[in-house]
Amino acid sequence: MTELKKLPNGFEYIEVNNDSCVAKIALNGAHVFEYKKKLFQDLLWVSEISDFSNDKAIRGGIPICWPSFGSSNPALPQHGFARTSMFELVFVTEIDAKTTQLLLRLVHNEKSLKLWNYKFELDLIVTLSDRLVLTLKTTNLDTKELKLTQALHTYFNVSHISDVSIEGLDKKPYFDAITNKTREQSGSISFNQEFDVIFQNVEDAIILKDKNRTIKIENSGSSSLVVWNPWIDKCSKMSAMEPEAYKEFVCLESANAYDDFKIIQKNESHTLQATFTLI
Ligand code: BG6
Repeated sequence: MTELKKLPNGFEYIEVNNDSCVAKIALNGAHVFEYKKKLFQDLLWVSEISDFSNDKAIRGGIPICWPSFGSSNPALPQHGFARTSMFELVFVTEIDAKTTQLLLRLVHNEKSLKLWNYKFELDLIVTLSDRLVLTLKTTNLDTKELKLTQALHTYFNVSHISDVSIEGLDKKPYFDAITNKTREQSGSISFNQEFDVIFQNVEDAIILKDKNRTIKIENSGSSSLVVWNPWIDKCSKMSAMEPEAYKEFVCLESANAYDDFKIIQKNESHTLQATFTLI
């Protein structure tokens, strides 16, 4: 079953409930903010004090950072403008009792052209079954080439940040956004301080191991992965986040960032896809 719901403040979202999962996707930002495989805990973390309104990004879930990741285009807001833009629901299909698919679309408009002077079509296909698949396709409808950096900025719900390890990044080069240094990873990652790193040359699956569950993250159209946790000091200064919230999530962001930017020629497209499976 799929329903379009509306909060009293006008915030609209799609609620999906099929035989394999329940999920919620906001039209503002095409933001997946809940995905729960039946009989399992929430895959995604969402801040208890997040705003759910049409002009703000939800703190948690899967914000879409587009057409610029971080502050790589200083003319744009941090992480671009898609996460605060209103998408159109193009279709919802119940492929079978266990699988629902929907397409949300953002097209250039007066407001976007003022911020970023390119004509484009941005499609997010969300496939909801016993795994979650996000397919983000950027098409350049302009006459000039465009440069794209982006991320599916997934906040994974974890039992406790100290119980988490990330595997699959051994020997990968990375840029550390805290020290501004480039290094090479050795072994798996665990967390005991602020972490804000862009890994490069990431072609294989990444494994997030938590105390009681393991999540596989597979990306295509991307060779960069951002790993982020704000830890104590930064968390207490962040918007829409309780000071202790850093313990409850880790962000693994399927990205085209740093050296992995994309140049898209006119009438061409680039597709970034992320698949999340509980194993
Ligand atoms: C991460 C960045 O992707 O997003 C961090 O690497 C940043 O540096 C974080 O703090 C959250 O960003 P925002 O704009 O959602 O507060």
